Amino acid sequence: MRAVERETYGDTSVLRVVDRELAAPTGDQALVRVAAAGVNMAEWHLMTGLPSVARLALGLRAPRRHGLGQDLVGTVEAVGPDVRALRPGDRVLGTGDAAFAEQALTREHRLVTLPAHVPGDRAAATPLAGTTALHALRSGRVAPGDRVLVLGAGGGVGSLAVRLAVLAGAEVTAATTAAKADALGGLGAAAVVDREHLPTGSGGGFDVVLVTGGLTPLGDLRRLLGPRGTLVLVGAEGGGTVVGGGLARQARAAALDPWVRQRLRSVVARANPTDLARLRDLLADGSLVPVVDRTFPLAEAGAAIDHLASGAARGKVVLRVA
Ligand SMILES: NC(=O)c1ccc[n+]([C@@H]2O[C@H](COP(=O)([O-])OP(=O)(O)OC[C@H]3O[C@@H](n4cnc5c(N)ncnc54)[C@H](OP(=O)(O)O)[C@@H]3O)[C@@H](O)[C@H]2O)c1
Repeated sequence: MRAVERETYGDTSVLRVVDRELAAPTGDQALVRVAAAGVNMAEWHLMTGLPSVARLALGLRAPRRHGLGQDLVGTVEAVGPDVRALRPGDRVLGTGDAAFAEQALTREHRLVTLPAHVPGDRAAATPLAGTTALHALRSGRVAPGDRVLVLGAGGGVGSLAVRLAVLAGAEVTAATTAAKADALGGLGAAAVVDREHLPTGSGGGFDVVLVTGGLTPLGDLRRLLGPRGTLVLVGAEGGGTVVGGGLARQARAAALDPWVRQRLRSVVARANPTDLARLRDLLADGSLVPVVDRTFPLAEAGAAIDHLASGAARGKVVLRVA
């Protein structure tokens, strides 16, 4: 089977399409024939090894894992002896560690069954970004009627967060760039605004501000909040190759949080079966329809990552594998 791999850190020129044979699944493993794989900024970070503090976990000189790709949709081909609920032939949604491939070995608790009527491209767009969005809404304690601002609403996590906040009953303002505003029209936001002209004063005072893009300083973000509002920092690119501007801002927010009335929170999302099942159910009943900007074939994984990293993608980018 074909898989996208790399042996060194670098830009997308380090990626190769290689032939691999995977071992038969053991224990609670499942072997999945991949139909579609979602692309996340996580792949860019794993590929480049940036910010370099991440190399402490990924491998100092070279990546310990050669595969890439987490989100996947596919069909179970074989299962290990400890797998209880999944059977060969089941259509599944979930995560693996090397999903940019025709087959992926993963574990039962990382998968849920997926009804046949849910388009694979859309479903593959949801596991990591959707789980992150759900974590962010929980961190913000988003409740019905809350006024929520999503910064970076045109991106993967941002567009899913807009929809999930709407489904939670919030009054959502989606801040994005003009080129992406149309793509967000179907998400149910009360307003789609230009991120260069954010509502302040009486138009601000948000209960929750959720940040998935841009290195807007903490003070400016806090001015968008009401006096007891919650800032939720999900992530942002740029601003330093060692630690990264987004991580540095999260550290400053954690240090400031005990001293101010506003709540300043950061999200570290982890895929989990409960959130995955929730996302699957919302996909299945049609209330969550992820915005998918483009699909690329497996062999163009590099182009897909470059497109996402350019910031131009409207919503999610997906690899169509089969
Ligand atoms: N904490 C966690 O567990 C976790 C999990 C997943 C992802 N992340 C991180 O969260 C961030 C978002 O992930 P993603 O998958 O949604 O990435 P994405 O699809 O690339 O979306 C990021 C969005 O940020 C917005 N943006 C870019 N530059 C901006 C600027 N200067 N000011 C304001 N907004 C700007 C853009 O949307 P607009 O054009 O609409 O403004 C862009 O589409 C990434 O940094 C990622 O690494 C963190």
